[in-house]
Order: sequence, then structure tokens, then C-alpha cells
Amino acid sequence: MESRLVGRTALVTGAGSGIGAACAQRLAAEGAKVAVVDINGKDAERVASHIRDAGGEAMSLVADVTQCDQVQAAVDETVRAYGRLDILHANAGITPCLVPVGDCPEESWRRVLDVNLTGVFLCVKAALPIMRKQKKGVLLATASVAGLTSSPAGIEYNVSKTGVIMLMRHVAHVYGPDGIRSIAICPGWVDTPFLKPLWDAFGSPGRSILRSSSPLGRFATPEDVAASVAFLASDEASFISGTAFTIDGGTTAGAPLARGALVRGYMAMRSGIRRLQGKPPAKLAP
Ligand SMILES: NC(=O)c1ccc[n+]([C@@H]2O[C@H](COP(=O)([O-])OP(=O)(O)OC[C@H]3O[C@@H](n4cnc5c(N)ncnc54)[C@H](O)[C@@H]3O)[C@@H](O)[C@H]2O)c1
Repeated sequence: MESRLVGRTALVTGAGSGIGAACAQRLAAEGAKVAVVDINGKDAERVASHIRDAGGEAMSLVADVTQCDQVQAAVDETVRAYGRLDILHANAGITPCLVPVGDCPEESWRRVLDVNLTGVFLCVKAALPIMRKQKKGVLLATASVAGLTSSPAGIEYNVSKTGVIMLMRHVAHVYGPDGIRSIAICPGWVDTPFLKPLWDAFGSPGRSILRSSSPLGRFATPEDVAASVAFLASDEASFISGTAFTIDGGTTAGAPLARGALVRGYMAMRSGIRRLQGKPPAKLAP
């Protein structure tokens, strides 16, 4: 493991599970002191103690990212304990209702935008004065490839993530002269508890279809995302700012339809070769 973040302080929200937990652990493993923030205090403390057991420095804090005073208190406590704030990763997020806009309950629209977008806005607002004073800082937010393309269901989620991408671009644009970098991270499907509602809705056939949406044929692991986050937080990425950084195994490189056609074309070619060889046609892999 590299040590690119020695002497840095990081705060990660939604760090009690999935991507946030992996990012908190990776940032700590690279030398950062980490505030592990989550609405679920037990999960946050489990991750923080895991970091401490591994020889890192971490504390857990409870905050609901939709509550301005709780976000401010988490940032203040981090600065009080660790002296500065170099990296803020606004990562907390929730899943949408899996329906098209015509069926989307107003409550889900408001709740998803509140957590996924307003939550990032509040984190950014709380961190900016400290980073501007330091003349240095990195703001990262977990958006999604869902912020780059539309999908048949979960429009409130797409809109929230597009908003996060624009917010992070704005921050890069306006606060770059203060030494602040700002990046929206856009993972594709990541295998975390977040996807449970999808598996409940689509079952295992849906799981294999979604898995094949990446040309690499697998979901990302939380650790895949954490490796990119550690790089982007480090000085190795010192000229990367204002971008939507995809970590999607090529999912957005081409339309799924085009990839489907490619696969069908490849299978037809293989079947033709097998026919010439007098063998039965090949089965399409699940
Ligand atoms: N899993 C995926 O496929 C995927 C893909 C792209 C983007 N994302 C995004 O990554 C982020 C993390 O997702 P994950 O897959 O690790 O999910 P997860 O459900 O494993 O973790 C989310 C964490 O956020 C916390 N949280 C929820 N609401 C909160 C609030 N109001 N305040 C503070 N904490 C809160 C939860 O307690 C949980 O610990 C989310 O923003 C999600 O939209 C996930």
C-alpha cells in the first residue's frame, strides 16, 4: 500500500457501509486521519475501530447529511480533533423508487434529492471556509454514471447525481484559485448493500444482466472505487479538477444496445464456425 496521504485529514460521509467504508479504510491505510461519518453510529464506529485495529487513526461521528447543523458539527469536530481538513468525501446516498417519473412518489423525489444532492451541498458549504483558509483542499463527491445517462426508472436518483456533477464542477471553477480541487466520482454498478432493492425487484436474472452492462463483465468492488478516490485525493492528481471521473468498467463507453449487437454478432460468428466444424451452436453465456 502506498503512503500518499500521510499528514492529511479526511472526512467521509456514508462511511459506515459499502463504498464509503472502503474509502475511509483506504484513505487511512495511505496515512490520512479519518473522520468516519454516518447516520448509523454503530456502523460508523465498526469501520473506525477496524481502521484503528489495522494501525490507522480514525474516529466515528454521527451525522445526518440532510441536517445543516449536524454536518457543520461533524466538520468542526474533525478540525478540532485533527487540526485541519484536507479531504472531504461527500458520499452518503440512498436508492430511488424503481419506477418512471409518472409513477414516482413526490416523497421519494424530495427525499432522494435531499440526501443525495442537498447532503453534498451542505458538506461542501461546511468544508469550503476551512479549505479556503488553508489554501488547499480536495472535495470529492460520489455521483454516479446515473448522473451522466438517463435510465427507465429511478429518475429522482439520476437528477440528484447530475446535480452533484454540476455542483462539483461549479466548486472547481470558482474555488480553484483558492487551491481547492473538486471532483465528482461516477461509479457504475458497485456490489454493496445499496443494490439490495434492485436484487429484490429483479432477482438473479436481473443481476446477471446488470453485471454484463460493463464490458468487463463484473460489478465494481467498493475497493475499486476506493483506489481511485485515494489517487484523486493525493497530490498525484494535483491537476485533476472539475471533472466527472468514471469508474465503470467501460459501461458508458458505448450504448448497451451496441454492445448487445456486438455480442450477438460475435455469437453468430462463433455459431457459424461451429456449424462448419459440424458442432452444435454455442449457448450464450448468462
Ligand atoms: N452501489 C452502487 O452501485 C453505486 C453506484 C454509483 C454510485 N453509488 C453511490 O455511492 C454512494 C454510497 O453508496 P453505497 O453503494 O456504498 O451504499 P450503502 O448503502 O452501502 O452505504 C450508504 C451509507 O450512507 C449512509 N447514509 C444514508 N443516508 C444518510 C444520511 N442522510 N446521512 C448520513 N449517512 C447516510 C448509510 O447509513 C450507509 O452507511 C451513494 O451516494 C450512492 O448513490 C453507488
